[in-house]
Amino acid sequence: MSHPPVPSQHEFKGVPLLHKLPALPVVEGTDPARCPQDAFRLAIADQLAKILGVDAKDAFLAAAPGGREADFKVVLPRFRLPAKIDELKEKVTSAFEPNAYLERVTSNGPAVLFFVNNQTLVDLTLATVQDMTYGEGAAIVDGEKRPSYGSNLNGRGKRVLVEFSSPNIAKPFHAGHLRSTIIGAFIANLYEANGWEVKRLNYLGDWGKQFGLLALGWRRFGSEEELAKDAVQHLFDVYVQINKLAEGPEGEKIHDEARAFFKGMEDGVHENLVEWEKFRNMSIERYKQTYERLNIHFDVYTGESQVKKENLKRTMEQLRGADFVEREKNGALLIDLTKYKLEKTVIERVDGTPLYITRDIVEAQQRWEDFGGFDKMIYVVASQQNLHLAQFFKVLELMGFSWAQKEADALLHINFGMVLGMSTRKGTVVFLDHILDETKERMHEVMRKNEAKYAQLEDPEGTADIVGMTAVKIQDMAGKRINDYNFDWQRMFSFEGDTGPYLQYNHVRLCSMQRTNAQDGLVLPLEDLDISTMKTDLLLTPEALEIVWLLATWPDVVRTASRDHQASTIVTFCFKLTHAISSAWEKLIVKGQDRDVALTRLWLYRCAKDVLGSALRLLTITPLERM
Ligand code: ARG
Repeated sequence: MSHPPVPSQHEFKGVPLLHKLPALPVVEGTDPARCPQDAFRLAIADQLAKILGVDAKDAFLAAAPGGREADFKVVLPRFRLPAKIDELKEKVTSAFEPNAYLERVTSNGPAVLFFVNNQTLVDLTLATVQDMTYGEGAAIVDGEKRPSYGSNLNGRGKRVLVEFSSPNIAKPFHAGHLRSTIIGAFIANLYEANGWEVKRLNYLGDWGKQFGLLALGWRRFGSEEELAKDAVQHLFDVYVQINKLAEGPEGEKIHDEARAFFKGMEDGVHENLVEWEKFRNMSIERYKQTYERLNIHFDVYTGESQVKKENLKRTMEQLRGADFVEREKNGALLIDLTKYKLEKTVIERVDGTPLYITRDIVEAQQRWEDFGGFDKMIYVVASQQNLHLAQFFKVLELMGFSWAQKEADALLHINFGMVLGMSTRKGTVVFLDHILDETKERMHEVMRKNEAKYAQLEDPEGTADIVGMTAVKIQDMAGKRINDYNFDWQRMFSFEGDTGPYLQYNHVRLCSMQRTNAQDGLVLPLEDLDISTMKTDLLLTPEALEIVWLLATWPDVVRTASRDHQASTIVTFCFKLTHAISSAWEKLIVKGQDRDVALTRLWLYRCAKDVLGSALRLLTITPLERM
């Protein structure tokens, strides 16, 4: 398991350098110890507060990235001060005092432009990366040190439940489930990096009449041997076969028997439940293998079957008495949500049985109780189910649960578009494992072509698998979630362009650089690096500054992603960083340089490697050291 960055739980006051720099105002929600950009923005806020008398927090928020023009810029009209903008500009530029954070100021239009002291930027950023990766600022989890640079404590004391993946037993694990799995696991990591306590839930489709059919199918077509080999595949095959049979002349009889079997399950008939549970457990074991391959895990395997009878009863009683629920003529229970533009939804069938939405309503309530409450509950489900999610969120709100009210802002549907054209060489089966196997094989073919490198790999199969998973994940997360995308075998595997293999290649290159130089006696210790020996004034070149600037923004990128819930925010950062590193490659040379020059540059590259590694791990990807 390769873990995402998490914040250090002990009080971390920041690197020693920070305390030698001018004091900064204290502003809620900022953390200059963990986030170097905050330090510079607070330095700007400090000056503006003193010169213009504005609130330091407002000024902090006003300090935006300056793009091509400057490091930061502040648009003055946003303060709504009772003075002419030109006068305010004049006031700021003339009263501005350069210090260790800020070098100079100019203006353009209604904006004041700030330029940071690059030496401080380099020193503070690299020292912070170093310390939060290997030193005092690193996190300790289960007695082990883990990188924490990029993480923050904004979510401290808050709990989030993230439900994702949620396949249906005996049915294919399709592209929609794959996206939910990839995006959901990322969202969970992201909340963890933002200081939240995270519970990862898998809500299986593991209840319903189809289990009656499956049980009948099992009797006719089941094989213990096949089940043990691959439960997910075998149960699907059995299910397909019995469905075929159920379409034929025996159909009616089969459906009646299936219904009876499921009724037995509902009534708690022991044998029926034992059989069903075997299918469920073996499917979960099989799913776990796939999740492991994807570097993903769950805290809880819940599912439609786990909705407790007594809870269902309690909720139905409450709903029956509610003024927003109607009984139809035929006896079904219905909620009319048309005034919220959410159509109508049936919550109890004519025969008194609950529906998919009914279970979701009860399950949500049950989770609230089982987990001792939550501050957020996130459902990572395809946008085809937008209406379903909106409906049951609305019902929970109408039922009066405090956590379901708009103000609580606790229920969140993270939706996403479709994957188009996902099929294997052999055909159109969309079994996830087939896709992943083929991904690995194709990646393996590509890697074999480079014989020299290939020969050095300890575990070529495992490596091919990881690069393959990276290819699939980056393709999935590179765009905005809501967009559909084409599953593109050709492009996904390319080592050029913005692909997963390209990112792994860059990480590997940075690792190999550390290795080969160590062989030449240029060793950078991890924990005991004496950064005062680093000649960071050598890093004031455009190429080095470009990298440092990106490293400094990383904690901000993590915060931004926690607001937009877009994995693409992180992926884009990875590509910017790798592009900056590629551009530096020929200018910031290590080989053949004086020892201190070489070591300082190696340090910069190592910090870049560490941050790239953290970004990949946040995306659930295991960064490779060789490939
Ligand atoms: N099993 C469902 C499906 O495959 C997805 C479950 C989504 N989550 C939920 N709480 N309804 O369509």
